[in-house]
Amino acid sequence: MKNQIIISAPGKLMLFGEHAVVHGKQCIVTAVDQRLKIKAQRLEEPEFELHAPVVDVLNYRKPLSELGKGDIPKGAKFVEIATRNFLDSRLRKASGNDSFGVSFETVSQFKSTFGFGSSSASTVCTVKALCELFNVNLSEKEIFDICYKTVLDIQGVGSGFDLAAAIYGQTLYFLAGGKKIEQLTIYNLQLVVGYTGVKADTAILVKEVNARAEKYPKLFKSIFDDIGLIVEEAKIALKKNDLTKLGELMNLNQGYLEALGVGSDKLSNLIYAARNAGALGAKLSGAGGGDCMIALVEEKNRRAVEKAIEKAGGKVLKVEVNAEGVRIERLGN
Ligand code: PMV
Repeated sequence: MKNQIIISAPGKLMLFGEHAVVHGKQCIVTAVDQRLKIKAQRLEEPEFELHAPVVDVLNYRKPLSELGKGDIPKGAKFVEIATRNFLDSRLRKASGNDSFGVSFETVSQFKSTFGFGSSSASTVCTVKALCELFNVNLSEKEIFDICYKTVLDIQGVGSGFDLAAAIYGQTLYFLAGGKKIEQLTIYNLQLVVGYTGVKADTAILVKEVNARAEKYPKLFKSIFDDIGLIVEEAKIALKKNDLTKLGELMNLNQGYLEALGVGSDKLSNLIYAARNAGALGAKLSGAGGGDCMIALVEEKNRRAVEKAIEKAGGKVLKVEVNAEGVRIERLGN
């Protein structure tokens, strides 16, 4: 058994299919090269400790038997509940492990406000670190299931696409709840990412879409179906590296996201600025309402698109797509 380990997992960007994926449709997500790291250490007493300064959690400590109980600071929720769920599903069943505890420290390369999925990356890192520290051998899908339960316990809603990106990495075709997780081979996809400066609340936006869908069930069903068709077309276009078509599909997807009511003036400003500067297509990425937009570009007009996004008030975030999934880092890194 190891006493100490460092694990990292990537952030993500939704390429196609957000919101519809919560309603049973498929989506396409890519992992990005901005990573969240967790350092985990085995303790000799049954205690849980977390130090996560980026989310204002400093030297938080409680007995393992109290996990999930009482007031939990917002920034500690995912690591704490993931630990509880891991222990409940695995460790407490294995004998001889109950006397140990665990201490975590998280560091992120990206801000939690970007919408790159810091909560999902920290959930995945937690479960992977516990597997390594306590010698529990879990498949990627088993890790996904513990992490997905954690997200549902905390947020009540969500498809789990972000967890899949953090675990498997690369670019994935994904069905809600992990019913299907398929790795897609993609070519050199050039994306420009523009951050609106506004933090979106995913759970609230998902609930707002649900409320509208209840009011207009037929209309929303057909919008979700159409988004599903866009994802299928995008899967084929990605395979063929048909960038023109991918750009058009991004624009179409954006139209449907506007129809769902998750656009915003800031997102639209950045999206139109990118399109007008020569992007092949542009859309919001994620829940909408803020966070980031993405634009598909050719290398020759990347700079023009970046400049246009900045001029429209966005912050360009440099990321590469198709990054590696959760991994063990060398101690000392
Ligand atoms: O806000 P983000 O980047 O976590 O994306 C949310 C995507 C949704 O489809 C709206 C929700 C989900 O869990 O799939």
